[in-house]
Amino acid sequence: MYAKRLDNLPPYLFAQIDKLKAQKRSEGVDVIDFGVGDPDLPTPKHIVDSLCDAARDPATHHYPDYTGMIEYREAVSEWYKKRFGVSFDAKTEVLALIGSKEGIAHVPEAFVNPGDYVLATDPGYPVYKTSTLFSEGILHELPIKEENDFLPELDKIPKDVLKKAKLMFFGYPNNPTAAIAPLSFYEEVVEFAKENNIVAVHDNAYSEISFDGYKAPSFMQVDGAKEVGMEMHSLSKTYNMTGWRLGMAVGGEELIAGLGRVKTNVDSGAFDAIQRAGITALTSSQQCVADACNIYQERRDTLVAGLRSLGFDVPSPKATFYVWMKVSDSMKFAEKMLNEAGIVVTPGVGFGKSGDGYVRFAITRDVERIKEAIDRMRGLDF
Ligand SMILES: Cc1ncc(COP(=O)(O)O)c(C=O)c1O
Repeated sequence: MYAKRLDNLPPYLFAQIDKLKAQKRSEGVDVIDFGVGDPDLPTPKHIVDSLCDAARDPATHHYPDYTGMIEYREAVSEWYKKRFGVSFDAKTEVLALIGSKEGIAHVPEAFVNPGDYVLATDPGYPVYKTSTLFSEGILHELPIKEENDFLPELDKIPKDVLKKAKLMFFGYPNNPTAAIAPLSFYEEVVEFAKENNIVAVHDNAYSEISFDGYKAPSFMQVDGAKEVGMEMHSLSKTYNMTGWRLGMAVGGEELIAGLGRVKTNVDSGAFDAIQRAGITALTSSQQCVADACNIYQERRDTLVAGLRSLGFDVPSPKATFYVWMKVSDSMKFAEKMLNEAGIVVTPGVGFGKSGDGYVRFAITRDVERIKEAIDRMRGLDF
């Protein structure tokens, strides 16, 4: 009944975990869920108020502009200028997205012909792989390993793959490893993309969630980045707006136009009232973002200290709301955590082969729950 491409989809590990979690809950277990990368914090009030006002204005009730409201695209452009020092023409170099997932899912449709290679970091955000599959591209995984600071080794990609490679997905601060990338890596990517005629798609969804004074750069800061690539960004993680579905793509005019052509044919844009609230988010005080980072930082410190007290050798991440921890067998570890302690963590293998041997904790639970989880783990024999 279904098209082959559905058969080719990898098993959706997160659905399996959801099932097990539901089962535990139905057995009366008080499950502590570190599985989902979805902020538990509410969207700041001034943004919610802005949506409510906008939703009452009938002018927002119509089909939105395909590329996004010009005022929203200008707000994105101003935010990028202020935050990263990069200028974009709001009319031609910025596109509104219905969340960055949507942009990532559609971008291969614009650039990849059946049989072209798509490069994507492994482990990585699963949509890099599934969007490649839907466009009938061939996925070439770029393993990211601890010994290389979780950055891909571009010089290890076989020549025959490079010849047919059309697009590359990468994203730092990284989900799931929580690794960060220096600007010098982005410079390397620009050179690499130029040399090999590859569209470089950087996923910067976590740039605002950072700690200890660290500020993540944008790929677009590098000279020449606009000619070879684009960046997907999102209001989801920055302003706790995952449910709202609002993001942006920025980059070179031709590339943005390519993605825009796909979108014009498959969706009708983000609700104008949500875009107006997005303008409020991007243009008003960013104190709410700093406050959220302080909360995550305290949680990170509590979890990392707790895990270290149990004998785990776990790094303290500088960004994202994830803690990526080495274990001997990620599936067994995750099963044991759920069955014996009622704790959900995500096995790294769910993000790709090279994620095996790790588990991911999402610190989207408060400090008290984190302390309780550590107490429950204390009784386990790992
Ligand atoms: C690395 C990464 N990119 C993109 C997304 C998509 O976010 P959204 O579609 O909410 O903007 C996520 C969501 O978890 C993510 O982890």
